[in-house]
Amino acid sequence: MKKQIITVAGGGSTYTPGIIQAVLHGQNRLPVSEIRLYDIDATRNENMYLIIQYMLEQQGFSNIQVKQTANPEEAFTNADFIFSQIRVGGLTMREKDEKIPLKYGLVGQETCGLGGFAYGLRSIGPLLELVGFVQKYAPEAWILNYTNPETIISEAVRRQYPGIRMINVCDMTIGIEDTLAKNYGYDRDNWIATYYGLNHFGWYTKIYDKSLKRDIMPELLEKLQTQEIKEEDPSWNRAFNMIRFMVQQFPDNIPNNYLEYYFYPDMYVNYADPNYTRANTIMDGRERKTHEMAEKIRNKVEGDILDFYFGVHGVYIVDIAAALLNDEKKRFMLIVENKGAIPNLRADAVVEVPAYVGATGVEAIRLSAIGDFHKGLMEAQVAAEKLLVDAYFENSYQKALQAFTLNQTVPNATVAKQVLDEMIKANEAYWPELNK
Ligand code: G6P
Ligand code: MN
Repeated sequence: MKKQIITVAGGGSTYTPGIIQAVLHGQNRLPVSEIRLYDIDATRNENMYLIIQYMLEQQGFSNIQVKQTANPEEAFTNADFIFSQIRVGGLTMREKDEKIPLKYGLVGQETCGLGGFAYGLRSIGPLLELVGFVQKYAPEAWILNYTNPETIISEAVRRQYPGIRMINVCDMTIGIEDTLAKNYGYDRDNWIATYYGLNHFGWYTKIYDKSLKRDIMPELLEKLQTQEIKEEDPSWNRAFNMIRFMVQQFPDNIPNNYLEYYFYPDMYVNYADPNYTRANTIMDGRERKTHEMAEKIRNKVEGDILDFYFGVHGVYIVDIAAALLNDEKKRFMLIVENKGAIPNLRADAVVEVPAYVGATGVEAIRLSAIGDFHKGLMEAQVAAEKLLVDAYFENSYQKALQAFTLNQTVPNATVAKQVLDEMIKANEAYWPELNK
């Protein structure tokens, strides 16, 4: 099998070691000759380059070349797969996305609510630029995108580059499945899940277990009602137990944890510390650890140096790339243009649904019509996100204000405008101009 060239866009990310670890484990299905780290932040990229080289050496993969670059031509020419995980504005801007809405008593979150919208307007331009580079230097490559906020990014890319070889992926569904399986005593490898929604905004309707030969949804729902979930990371522990809380109120489906921001914004605002948000936790945690690892390698410190998260996230991405390469026709939850997958939802919505991946790309399955509760929520959210993407392409303040007002975490147009105006200032270096 031809060995593949993988380019990680946003190479300096703290997620990179986990992804590369998954690549190394996946050499039988996705053999690799070269890994390129592409990042506009030279310091972070250099740190990651040291870490990845060290990993490869330690694990006996000196046959795989590692390169680092900030030059798109070098990064993409002849690449087979682009793993896109850029974070426009970095954690500094994530912190603002989280803190500004909280100041106004609204949900402040990386991908949901107005923080997510601010992040969306920031990310569209650089993501389109990235896709443009890939079109120019590696038009046959597959882009696996997990840059957030994914529905908004997908909507923008779809408009500018219809038919692009890009797959939008989020690890949250397997994250949920993994956690449920571990906590409630199942083996997720046996699961065939049915789920629909928008990204970070959806519901499970069925989980068929191959070994038990039945739909285990009823028993999972019952366990969620009564049995606590235990997760090590406190904020994830809270998020997963919010799934339980939501099931207690709406017992028919298992919701994505991110729906808490739309259903119970008040609870989130009460819980959140407006002076210390998730971005701060990441800066003081993963970010600091990554920096320390690189420093130790630089100073030739001996002993156990590597300390990073390796789990579902990297494995999922490698699984999808392998499915494309080997025509595996494996099932994943993916973010695609609806086109009838959810038959009673507008065809041009970007949805997250089960899909099979093989050599020709993604084939989403056709689901049954959905009920009014979820449909109504999704329609409002889709419209808000489309308005935001319109605001980007039309440089329209009015469309941005409409998007902010329609966002389901926002109670009125007064506060929508206040947050929008403050976000415009905070994002001056990143957002397109919005004309009144
Ligand atoms: C999940 C979501 C991602 C999100 C991440 C945040 O993996 O699917 O979209 O970016 O969580 O995790 P963090 O640890 O950075 O808060
Ligand atoms: Mn996600």
